[in-house]
Amino acid sequence: MSHQKATNITWHHGHVDRAARESLLRQRGCTIWFTGLPSSGKSTLAFTLEHWLVERGHLSYVLDGDNIRHGLNKNLGFSPDDRVENIRRIGEVAKLFADAGVITCTSFISPYRADRDQARQVHEAAGLPFIEVFVKASVEVCETRDPKGLYRKAKAGEIKEFTGVSAPYEEPLRPELVIDTGELSVDAGVQVVIEELRRRSFIGA
Ligand code: ADX
Repeated sequence: MSHQKATNITWHHGHVDRAARESLLRQRGCTIWFTGLPSSGKSTLAFTLEHWLVERGHLSYVLDGDNIRHGLNKNLGFSPDDRVENIRRIGEVAKLFADAGVITCTSFISPYRADRDQARQVHEAAGLPFIEVFVKASVEVCETRDPKGLYRKAKAGEIKEFTGVSAPYEEPLRPELVIDTGELSVDAGVQVVIEELRRRSFIGA
């Protein structure tokens, strides 16, 4: 975990609270944390869910691993330390988005359980809902899809520390939701999340 480096800093409370933002948006801010192997379907689910929500008048935004690594996290690679920092930052950014009232979807492999738990903890400490979604697909299924050809490259030794081939993935122990993308269509998978958002009254029926 990263330590507090800066000293002489004081929290400044704003004049607008979360409840005011949420009533403006008519929804509850939360984070939907998609985790799973490369090519398991995280980004597809997250972007389809975002689209579904926005079309129905809800503000949603996807923080996606490949995209964030083009900007905010462009200085990070795939060593264990860099992955820890990648997820630490996204846990914090997602918390800010959720606090702003946004239905925030993150799609990161986030291979380490401890880092996902830390992201959850950051949310819970702020009173923000955190929904961990395990996007489940076997390595064999993911390898067959391989839309970016990365499994093939990793197996040929051209990518080091590739998750599922030469780097570990720790499955969630108690995720709020499991979506088996080998079994369910994209739309059916998205509906699983929407049901949960409705059940918890984060969006209206
Ligand atoms: S994480 O492990 O730190 O959570 P993240 O989700 O941000 O990973 O990025 C994963 C994406 O980076 C994959 O979708 C893939 O396109 C690309 N990538 C490149 N190298 C690797 C690697 N060694 N392991 C996993 N993904 C990689």
